[in-house]
Amino acid sequence: MKFFIDTADVDQIRQIHQWGLLAGVTTNPSLVAKSGRDFLEVLREITSFVKGSVSAEVLADEAEDMWEEARPLTAIADNITIKVPMTAEGLKAVHRFSQAGIQTNVTLVFSANQALLAARAGATYVSPFLGRLDDIGHDGIQLIEEIAHLFERHEIDTQIIAASVRHPQHVTQAAAAGAHIATLPFGVFEKMLSHPLTDTGIERFKQDWIEAQAHIGE
Ligand code: E4P
Repeated sequence: MKFFIDTADVDQIRQIHQWGLLAGVTTNPSLVAKSGRDFLEVLREITSFVKGSVSAEVLADEAEDMWEEARPLTAIADNITIKVPMTAEGLKAVHRFSQAGIQTNVTLVFSANQALLAARAGATYVSPFLGRLDDIGHDGIQLIEEIAHLFERHEIDTQIIAASVRHPQHVTQAAAAGAHIATLPFGVFEKMLSHPLTDTGIERFKQDWIEAQAHIGE
C-alpha cells in the first residue's frame, strides 16, 4: 500500500515529502478553504515538487461544467488527477476524462456498488471514506475489503484509495484489507511514526554510550 497525504497545507506536504515515501496528494474543497489560499496557486506549488498524483476536486454538478472546471486544473501539470463526486453526472464526466487520458479520483464512495460503477466508467482511483462510515455506525474497513475483493475477482485496474482515515489503526487495517493507497492527514503520519519504546530506547542507547565513554582509559 502506498501513501498519499490528505491536505492542502503545502508545509505539511513538504515535511512528509522529505520522508521519501510520499506517492501523491489529495485535496478537497474543505481542505483548500482551510488553507485560505488560491486553489490554482496551491496546486502549482504542490506539483512543483510532488511528481505523483495530485487530486484536485471539481464542484460543478453537471458533467459538462465539471469538464470546463477541470481545464485550468489539468493545465497546471500532467500529474493533476481530477476528483469527481460519485453521482450520475460525475460518472459521465469520469468517462469523458478517461477517454481524454485524464486521471480521475471518484470521491465520496460509501458502497461497493458505487465503487464498481466508478471503476467501469473509467475511474483511475476510487475513494471509499472509512471514517465517515465508522461515524454512522458502519464498518469502513469492511467496505475496503469488499471493494478489493470485487476488483481482484473481476480484474479491475482501478486503484482503491482508503480515505477519511482518522487514526493509525485505520492505516494498518486498510493495508490488510487490500487498499492500494491510503491518503492520510498529517497528524496520522506523525502518530504512525512515534512509539514510546522507540523514544526511551534512543535515550537509553545514548546514556549507555556516554557512560561507557566516561570509563574508557580508567
Ligand atoms: C479524501 O480524498 C478526502 O479528502 C478525505 O479523506 C476526507 O476525509 P474527512 O472525512 O476527514 O473529511
